[in-house]
Amino acid sequence: MTETVKNTTHAQLIIGDKQYQLPILKGSQGDKAIDISRLHKETGLFTYDIGSKNSATCSSSITYLDGNKGILRYRGYDIEDLAEKCLFIEVAYLLIHNKLPNREELEDFRILLEEYALLHEDMIHFFDHFPPNASPMAILSVMVNSLANYYPEMGGDPLLNINDTAGRLISKIRTIAAFSYKKSIGHPLVYPRNDLSYCGNFLNMMFDTPVRPYTVQPEVVAAMNKLLILHADHEQNCSTSAVRLVGSAGVNLYASISAGINALWGPLHGGANEAVIQMLEAIHRDGNDYKKYVAKAKDKNDPFRLSGFGHRVYRTYDPRGTIIKKACDGILAVMNVSDPLLEIAQNLEEIARNDDYFISRNLYPNVDFYSGIIYRAIGIPTDMFTVMFALGRLPGWIAQWKEMREDPATKIVRPRQIYTGEQARIFQPLGERF
Ligand code: CMC
Repeated sequence: MTETVKNTTHAQLIIGDKQYQLPILKGSQGDKAIDISRLHKETGLFTYDIGSKNSATCSSSITYLDGNKGILRYRGYDIEDLAEKCLFIEVAYLLIHNKLPNREELEDFRILLEEYALLHEDMIHFFDHFPPNASPMAILSVMVNSLANYYPEMGGDPLLNINDTAGRLISKIRTIAAFSYKKSIGHPLVYPRNDLSYCGNFLNMMFDTPVRPYTVQPEVVAAMNKLLILHADHEQNCSTSAVRLVGSAGVNLYASISAGINALWGPLHGGANEAVIQMLEAIHRDGNDYKKYVAKAKDKNDPFRLSGFGHRVYRTYDPRGTIIKKACDGILAVMNVSDPLLEIAQNLEEIARNDDYFISRNLYPNVDFYSGIIYRAIGIPTDMFTVMFALGRLPGWIAQWKEMREDPATKIVRPRQIYTGEQARIFQPLGERF
């Protein structure tokens, strides 16, 4: 538990004729939560909270999010400032070290990332054994998990080498992602180059070919930096919770991050950016009949949802979505791209924003609604969108894992359940069963 959590007052719980005092904890921004850590011991009862909608599972000093006001801050800095004025690697440093790097620290971090950019050559053979249309998210999680075998420095005290491991992961994930793309299209691998920036290096590994050299454009690098920053952390979302949960069992950082990648893959989470483009393409093929899709999303008998809309915490605009929407026009102009999907997205948003179904449920475009349009414009294939999200989220996962491991209050995550199955049954040997 971080020191900013204070026990301010108590809530009273009355069960039958017994009364219990439950401490109310208060965070540094005034968030309050009832501390039920002694509830079962004292009352014999658990709480029931599907999807952890009402439960804080840890205290954290990394990201602050006010879902009603649309505020997002990393380590106290507004997302708007960071997205506008920083490089992704500065933000990665900030999340992990709780301070923006000065020039010297940034240079050291950049050199660390350069040093670790290559993959162990043996690992490159792994790529040959995936089927050609394998999901890049599956490849990413397998490769990241395998890093633990090649770089076993986490075997002892995992916090001892955490800065090295963090650098290794942040650097190598980009090489793995680009190599998986090259393999999927049957092109030769392009190795990392230390003369390029973090994002420039990735783009070059993705798009350079022996027959057509790639020119790294500063505007594209800037757009990628912005997108990665916007995705870099988002407190206790599904994938971050997966990283913490798996890490709470004492497993190494690589395995924990691999679990996070798998959670992110889901269309309700990071996979939504891919789902948005698929939805917009379907609407385009359907004669741009977006009203039909809004009606489908509202129909309780239809499982369809508007991808890129809604959020567990935001009850207003997702501030990341606002920044991305603004950036869209700029990057499309620079790339000289006119994407019909942008207009469909804008129309869909307009209709949904004036529709009572969406208004009454506080459903607004989230970070994934417009990000895919930028990724398309810079040439990233749709099935790599969630990989891009993972590249961005990685420093957040690392910071959260580190915080969890450093926190003396951490315990293995082991939720309870309400059993609804059979009562004790009499066992029947095989021959006596019907
Ligand atoms: N389209 C239509 N209806 C929706 C949508 C949507 N996208 N999202 C929520 N609703 C409705 C839902 O049917 C429910 O209605 P009712 O109260 O009548 O039953 C109400 O809004 C509340 O929804 P919920 O499912 O209880 O909310 P949740 O907090 O459990 O789910 C969510 C949040 C993000 C999973 C959900 O809004 C959703 O499925 N959105 C589409 C997928 C998406 O864009 N995911 C990316 C989220 S942001 C980035 C990230 O986390 O990676």
